[in-house]
Amino acid sequence: MTDQNNAGPHVGEPLDEEAIGIDRPGLHAAPGARPRNETFSDIVGRNLARRSFLLGLGASIPVLMTAKLPGFGEAAQAASADKLRFKPISPSNADEILVPNGYVHDVILSWGQPLFSGAPKFKFERQTAKAQEQQFGYNCDFVGFFPLDKDRALLAVNHEYTSGDDMFPEYKPGVDKGQADVEIAAHGGSVVELKKDGGRWKAVKSKKYNRRITATTPMEITGPAAGHALLKTSADPRGTEVLGMLNNCSGGKTPWGTWLTCEENFNQYFANNGLLADGPVKAAHSRYGVTSGATGRKWEAFYDRFDLLKEPNEPFRFGWVVEIDPYDPDFKPRKRTALGRAKHEAATTALTKDGRVAVYTGDDQQFDYVYKFVSKGKVKKKREQNFDLLDKGVLYVAKLSDDNTGEWIELSMKNPTLAGLFKSDGDILIKTRLAADAVGATAMDRPEDVQPNPVSGKVYLTMTNNSARTTLRPNAGETAANPRVPNFNGHIIELTEADDDHGATTFKWEIFLLCGNPTIDLKTEAGELTPGLASNATFFAGYADASKLGKVASPDNIAFDSRGNLWIATDGQPNSLDIGQPNDAMHVVPTDGPDRGYLRQFLSGPKGCEVCGPEFTPDDKTLFAAIQHPGEGGGYPNTVSTWPPDNKAFPRPAVIAVRRKDGGRIGS
Ligand code: FEO
Ligand code: CA
Ligand code: CA
Repeated sequence: MTDQNNAGPHVGEPLDEEAIGIDRPGLHAAPGARPRNETFSDIVGRNLARRSFLLGLGASIPVLMTAKLPGFGEAAQAASADKLRFKPISPSNADEILVPNGYVHDVILSWGQPLFSGAPKFKFERQTAKAQEQQFGYNCDFVGFFPLDKDRALLAVNHEYTSGDDMFPEYKPGVDKGQADVEIAAHGGSVVELKKDGGRWKAVKSKKYNRRITATTPMEITGPAAGHALLKTSADPRGTEVLGMLNNCSGGKTPWGTWLTCEENFNQYFANNGLLADGPVKAAHSRYGVTSGATGRKWEAFYDRFDLLKEPNEPFRFGWVVEIDPYDPDFKPRKRTALGRAKHEAATTALTKDGRVAVYTGDDQQFDYVYKFVSKGKVKKKREQNFDLLDKGVLYVAKLSDDNTGEWIELSMKNPTLAGLFKSDGDILIKTRLAADAVGATAMDRPEDVQPNPVSGKVYLTMTNNSARTTLRPNAGETAANPRVPNFNGHIIELTEADDDHGATTFKWEIFLLCGNPTIDLKTEAGELTPGLASNATFFAGYADASKLGKVASPDNIAFDSRGNLWIATDGQPNSLDIGQPNDAMHVVPTDGPDRGYLRQFLSGPKGCEVCGPEFTPDDKTLFAAIQHPGEGGGYPNTVSTWPPDNKAFPRPAVIAVRRKDGGRIGS
């Protein structure tokens, strides 16, 4: 969802106003000749060392052996990183999925699909909450693949939000309680067993594993903020249990095989912040953009907890990273307050050199921040021993300095700046954005996915766009890490932790991609917009031949295949590409070798959608993608899409599985 993240200005640390010239190191390196401080064999050696550490954990965590998490990189695959060989597709505005020649896709899960035997069939005209609770939810986003055995797996999928105008023949927010209950049941997530049948993954109605999580599922609040006065409500006087999760966008997987699912634009569900008396509660809600008057869905008409005049603390119980064990349908989801409260886009994990876990997360709002949590304890052998690992540790926020160095600034009472402003670590975590404002973190261009590369260990920070840089903050201008003013097309930053250790508190960074139409770049006159880079300037990691490059805008969710190629799904592809109005898409770009920066389009989604996921099977032979909100914008019966193809009059968000016809690895 794009528009929720373009809120107005907030009180933040002033940015460095000094203009950064176009000749910054890293922007003009020749292909394959970028400066680097270690050799390829260093990287391979490091990954071997990490893998040895993990192998030492033994076979009690089978997930570890197959999950592609940083620190789990397969050295053999890295050493033989083969070229991408598919013929790229062109941008399209057709209402269908397009993939390259030699590839096919299957729709494996779509909105309303019954997940349990006996679950009601989907009926667009007569949908009920009871049926929806047993069916696949709406607007799928994160997709996580959790293996069971060679031919069986679990797929964990987020259901970010509902689009009432597209879900009901006639949407009546605040009037029809039945519709509100369907929406509440269509939020959350799904865990669905998949079975491989003739090379194709298919969903099964598994009694043992399938699960729906909704906006009413009881969840435990854990970590330093649990029980804090601001988390107490009349329904939960202890401040330790909350009903449901909201607006779960992207997510991640832990080394012990649990699912991290991230609450993003929770602010839009809570009404009447404008009617609260002035004070710290109202100010904190305002910093997170909690709705001033009535909400769009108007659940507050039926449930007191969505009305701040009745329950002013309820929004503090949302905006967290939620951990769920997909292998145990009885597992009570846990909101991990130690990871901070933000509009979390994703939460991706990597191991530190001494065996602790680092979790990277972005806060998707114009001028918000990138965070990292590092656990206090080390990852242990038995997976259940790690179930409370994310409750103790240190939360950091990123400062990306204009000299291409950076630091992770601790957000706790140990930081003298914060000790004078906050009452406890719990207080800091509930108001994470305010703490980050106070310590001078770097305000970014809407941080979406933040993901470590499983081969190199470098971390990729996706900034989807920021049309308001300078207009909202006239004195801010650009920073070296957010160099275009305004930034219509987004960019991706490559971050290298000090000593290649995910536990480090300093790093180096460089621009990896400045998205847009690479052929326009040739026409750009530097200084056209002053100071800084022209908004249509592009950069593809130094790849020189613009005629071969794809056109990409608004990068959002990203994933790596096991060879370290970066796959980029977009949310806002049409932005100023100067090529009409193509649909959102998926692209791939190598991060190393002579083709570093050579971006190609792999998939085009149907009309009006955003492409989410992406997620690979460990063998790279299947690529999952979530097709979110196809047709959004028109409202039934005028939706611009009726995808998937078996639909006649309305679209259905769905997960697809892409494979090669010959059964080979995707992209090879
Ligand atoms: Fe739900 Fe930041 O995208
Ligand atoms: Ca987005
Ligand atoms: Ca997103």
